Amino acid sequence: MRAALVVGFVAAGAMLLINESAHTQTASMLQSVRVSSELLRTVNSLLRELAMAESAQRGYVLTADTAYLAPYRRSKDEVQKYVRQLDGAVALDADMREEASDLTKAVAQKFGEMDLVIRLRGQNKTDAANFVVSTNVGLDEMQRTRALGAQLIESASEQVVDNRVEIFRLLNVTRFGLAAGILAALFAFVLYTQQTRQMQRNDEEYNRSLEAERDALESQVQERTSRLTELATHLQHAVEDERAHLARELHDELGALLTAAKLDVARLKSRLPGDSPELADRVKHLTETLNQGIALKRRIIEDLRPSSLSNLGLMASLEILLREFGERSHIEMESALEPVTLNDTSDLTIYRVVQESLTNIGKYAQAKRVTVTLKNYVYHVELSVTDDGIGFNPGLTPHASHGLVGMRHRIEACGGRLDVTSAPGQGTRITATIPRQQRKPQGELASAMDDMHMSSDSYTNDAQSRTTVAG
Ligand SMILES: Nc1ncnc2c1ncn2[C@@H]1O[C@H](COP(=O)(O)OP(=O)(O)OP(=O)(O)O)[C@@H](O)[C@H]1O
Ligand SMILES: [Mg+2]
Repeated sequence: MRAALVVGFVAAGAMLLINESAHTQTASMLQSVRVSSELLRTVNSLLRELAMAESAQRGYVLTADTAYLAPYRRSKDEVQKYVRQLDGAVALDADMREEASDLTKAVAQKFGEMDLVIRLRGQNKTDAANFVVSTNVGLDEMQRTRALGAQLIESASEQVVDNRVEIFRLLNVTRFGLAAGILAALFAFVLYTQQTRQMQRNDEEYNRSLEAERDALESQVQERTSRLTELATHLQHAVEDERAHLARELHDELGALLTAAKLDVARLKSRLPGDSPELADRVKHLTETLNQGIALKRRIIEDLRPSSLSNLGLMASLEILLREFGERSHIEMESALEPVTLNDTSDLTIYRVVQESLTNIGKYAQAKRVTVTLKNYVYHVELSVTDDGIGFNPGLTPHASHGLVGMRHRIEACGGRLDVTSAPGQGTRITATIPRQQRKPQGELASAMDDMHMSSDSYTNDAQSRTTVAG
């Protein structure tokens, strides 16, 4: 790219230089041709006027008619004017200056001779005048002047020819220089185009490799995400299994122990002597402690694995959960739960989401009222838990918190979506959407059902149950 630009600039610079120098030299040559042509005209005119002066002088010598003197003087003035022009024209050329000077001198001598003859004839010294004429001095001088004029004309003509040759040479230099410059510029253009194409190809290649790298990374991230999701789901199932196992153990082992202890205490109670109130008090206290232990065991078992879920179903389990929470926390509970038909995993997911939402409300919300709704739509079930508490910024949850993350994971593992809407001072709303895993109807039935869904109508309104529990 840089090489092409350098070649282009050098070619343009060279063309400018050649053009400018050729223009200057050609202008100077043309000026020289003009001066030489002027010189030619001047010398020719000078010789012509000299011949006219000689002819007028001869007329006067032969006739003594003074009418010949006026043309003689006019021609003499003209010749002097041409001599001055000649001096100016050859000022810059040393050789021609010498030749012009010889011519000027010869002209002066010729006029000296002609003036002398005219003066002698004017003084009526005809013989003397004729003698001067007959000596042929005038003729010689005239011939010498003509020869010098011819020589000057030849020199000027040669100069014109030389200048023309030089002009043609310069024209050729310009022609070839411009042609070379244009070729260089074309070469630079081709080079530039090739280099630009190469750069484009490199860019495309680089972009392709970047895209390939990005795709590879994306698929790697996707694969790892799906592996992590699988792992998290597996862990959640393992936790649920472990909880169920623990619940069974507690129920079977601890339950049996506590029941046996309660039976023993009952037996002991029936055999107590009537006159020992202190002993009776102790046994009564023991019975109460055992009852509390049994109740605690039940609560722990319920927490670990809500037996109500499999025994009574989701609706009843949720109602029990809400009632117990309301009683414990003294928060006003409102619920609108429509019966839903989901599989066991989704039932448990909904139960756990409500459980964690209520735990959070108890821990942080400082709420006075909580509303839980469960709605049945054509293709999905929507659960929402809303409180009027202090709210929080969902974008700024602590790193070590797992409740909301766990909820989201459970919901997404069922193919659903969790939305947390909250802001400080605005309360909190947790919304979970879970698909009902029903086969989607096709064609016209599908669009008709979509229209129904657009109006958000729940089709089981009449079956919903509403419960309000004051804490
Ligand atoms: N209903 C709510 N009202 C006000 N703040 C809430 C509510 N629910 C959650 N938060 C805020 O969101 C944070 C994250 O809750 P999340 O349940 O994920 O974690 P956590 O309860 O702090 O810990 P973990 O559930 O793991 O024991 C909480 O620390 C709390 O600040
Ligand atoms: Mg929590």
